[in-house]
Amino acid sequence: MDNLIEQRPPTYHAVIAGYGSFAPEKTITNDDLAEMVDTTDEWITTRTGIKVRHITTDNETTALLAIKAAKRALAEAKLDAKEIELIIVATITPEMVFPSTASFVQLALDAKKAWAFDLAAACSGFIYGLSIVRQFIESGQIKNALVVGAETLTKITNWKDRTSCILFGDGAGAFVLERADKNNRRGIMYSTMFSDPTRWDALNCQAYGSRYPVGKKLDNPEKIYMQIKGRQVYQQAIRRIVETVTECLEKCNLTLDDIAMVISHQMNARIIESAAKRLKLPDEKVFLNIAEYGNTSAASVPIAFDECVRKGRVKRGDIVILVAFGAGLTWAANVIEF
Ligand SMILES: CC(C)(COP(=O)(O)OP(=O)(O)OC[C@H]1O[C@@H](n2cnc3c(N)ncnc32)[C@H](O)[C@@H]1OP(=O)(O)O)[C@@H](O)C(=O)NCCC(=O)NCCS
Repeated sequence: MDNLIEQRPPTYHAVIAGYGSFAPEKTITNDDLAEMVDTTDEWITTRTGIKVRHITTDNETTALLAIKAAKRALAEAKLDAKEIELIIVATITPEMVFPSTASFVQLALDAKKAWAFDLAAACSGFIYGLSIVRQFIESGQIKNALVVGAETLTKITNWKDRTSCILFGDGAGAFVLERADKNNRRGIMYSTMFSDPTRWDALNCQAYGSRYPVGKKLDNPEKIYMQIKGRQVYQQAIRRIVETVTECLEKCNLTLDDIAMVISHQMNARIIESAAKRLKLPDEKVFLNIAEYGNTSAASVPIAFDECVRKGRVKRGDIVILVAFGAGLTWAANVIEF
């Protein structure tokens, strides 16, 4: 028995060595949208907090955004891409049906040592990805990993549907995670993930998977675009964020005083503010950048984290909670000592 214990791999921590983000240059404002659908800047601002979103041109793809964000995170981590052991790209708007977007990131980075795959958990994808990487690093199986959240949601947006086209934008964010001795920073301290498939129809894009393959006539031509039932999702999002953050605090034996920032998926400023109010989180511990990006799904948390650090609102050693909610439905959180 003693011998078995000795043979166990040592425990490591998965720490954030680098972070970075990228958003396409082209933007679309609320006033631009008001020329396309029956809406106003005032309606969008008060109901969502969004003012502008970045959108890709025809030549800009999900892998391109992912590669730009990944390069920034690698530079920050001072890690040579040739040393990366695992690449996960969280996305619901992949480069193509297959191979994975992660394969294209691996190719562009010439990351020969890595294995790579995509993760489809919508807005929770990046948080799921961190949780997976944590397991591989803590078990001693890998020394580092690159996790990217990258989306081009505007390519599946119905620009004639005012209930959805106002919400989404494109972008990418990335973390480099590295193995650290357990006596160093704690890195990812706690992870929690959930999904509820009974509400899958609240948020989806049905064409062109195996249910509606290319070549089969769609019963509704709108199925090539994202469909959302925003009202149904709204209350769920608030409830799940509150539950998940509360669980994180309890399981890690932390109080709000111990937390420097809660960085939520940016889906709607009103949802985030309502959740924060219920959690009794002071304003300075809630990061919001939805005004400039809209909802970028899996890219939203790493973009927000990158901005938060660059603005000096989170510093090395701080404890932050990353939390997301989205299609699936899925929701998840990680507690991180940065
Ligand atoms: C989409 C969302 C902003 C809508 O806000 P809301 O306050 O719930 O608004 P409602 O859907 O109840 O619509 C209220 C009215 O505004 C109208 N409306 C909808 N979109 C509009 C727009 N862009 N401009 C003006 N009016 C609009 C509706 O038609 C409705 O009119 P009615 O009362 O005459 O029927 C909000 O529900 C939301 O953010 N939900 C979550 C979004 C989501 O699912 N994100 C992805 C997952 S993370």
